[in-house]
Amino acid sequence: MSDQTYGFDTLQIHAGAAPDPATGARNTPIYQTTAYVFRDADHAAALFNLQEVGFIYSRLTNPTVAVLQERVATLEGGAGAVCCSSGHAAQIMALFPLMAPGKNVVVSTRLYGGTVTQMTQTIKRFGWSAKFVDMDDLAAVEAAVDDDTRAIFCESIANPGGYITDLRAVADVADKVGLPLIVDNTSATPYLCRPIEHGATLVVHSLTKYLTGNGSVTGGVVVDSGTFDWSASGKFPSLSEPEPAYHGLKFHETFGPLAFTFHGIAIGLRDLGMTLNPQAAHYTLMGIETLSLRMEKHVQNARKVAQWLEQDPRVDYVTYAGLESSKYFHRVEKVCPRGAGSLFTFAVKGGYESCIKLIDSLEIFSHVANLGDTRSLIIHSASTTHRQLDENQQRAAGADPEVVRVSIGIEDPDDLIADLDQALAKATA
Ligand SMILES: Cc1ncc(COP(=O)(O)O)c(C=O)c1O
Repeated sequence: MSDQTYGFDTLQIHAGAAPDPATGARNTPIYQTTAYVFRDADHAAALFNLQEVGFIYSRLTNPTVAVLQERVATLEGGAGAVCCSSGHAAQIMALFPLMAPGKNVVVSTRLYGGTVTQMTQTIKRFGWSAKFVDMDDLAAVEAAVDDDTRAIFCESIANPGGYITDLRAVADVADKVGLPLIVDNTSATPYLCRPIEHGATLVVHSLTKYLTGNGSVTGGVVVDSGTFDWSASGKFPSLSEPEPAYHGLKFHETFGPLAFTFHGIAIGLRDLGMTLNPQAAHYTLMGIETLSLRMEKHVQNARKVAQWLEQDPRVDYVTYAGLESSKYFHRVEKVCPRGAGSLFTFAVKGGYESCIKLIDSLEIFSHVANLGDTRSLIIHSASTTHRQLDENQQRAAGADPEVVRVSIGIEDPDDLIADLDQALAKATA
């Protein structure tokens, strides 16, 4: 299929897929196999030398997963993609080829709490570090970059506040300092925002969220724009210099715009083993087929619920960027032209106690640590997803102790409003 000529709704169903050549099966089969029979010894050797592309072993490549990789790469406008076992795995897979002991990444203060913990605590064990910066302060972003910085990282729509990052402005800084920009596009999806068009080098996703869309899969993906020159600065030797594990092969010289993708499979998945299983890839492929329809409804519902909450006297404030009162409203058109997503927080009068009563009183909303489900979800971020952060970090991330985070689903919006209404009455009685 010549992908570039089709619209988003067509690509979300067809990109990367074709009727199964062996059986004609119209839906992408689940290739539930660990290994693939080689034609002969020369074929095996060529595959292991990366001289021929094909299937060796499902830790590295699998036909069902390959369709998903091509589907997401196409929807994001990237050159290639590597799926992995979770969104967090995708973040490590994105950083792994760029970083080395002593190197750092400049990251946004407005991030999912688990990512803050990954960046403050866990990556230290690899000898890496992160510098946290408010990405609205572009001078601070540039000032944070030093000789050891290897990437800049932010979320397009930030979890939990739903704040929108000015990706073009941050990408301009990244270009100026010659570094790749990595954007976590989980909360927006490529339907609402395509970070590569705003200058991002790599896009990461938790497939667990809107892309699968129904709370049934844990998965991740790294999409490469294919546009970064890994050889220009000498800062990315894993991609530009001879690779001892492949007899001196240079990934960038050999694979050009697909260097990062090949490295992700041939080194990242091979040695870190954070592989997505084909069953999960199948569920995600089915989810993506309806992505645009779901995201339209998520956005419509979120706007309606946020507007209703904003005028309610029991609510102090609502952070939805799709509200005119939001300081990020002016970025919606530029960064997420189809809408501001369905993730935001609101502050209930009465603080933490009222938040907890509200959550316990809801009937349709589910109290879970997830987002991007067809179902509406709610959580008190400061005591759960952002619990490991101190209060300053929580407030900087948008997880203030007096707010609850909602991920608005695709139910009937009037039912969601009625549910919030009865729960707010109990919470603030
Ligand atoms: C914005 C964002 N990025 C990444 C992740 C991590 O994804 P996963 O849970 O699939 O590892 C999450 C999880 O909530 C998230 O909200």
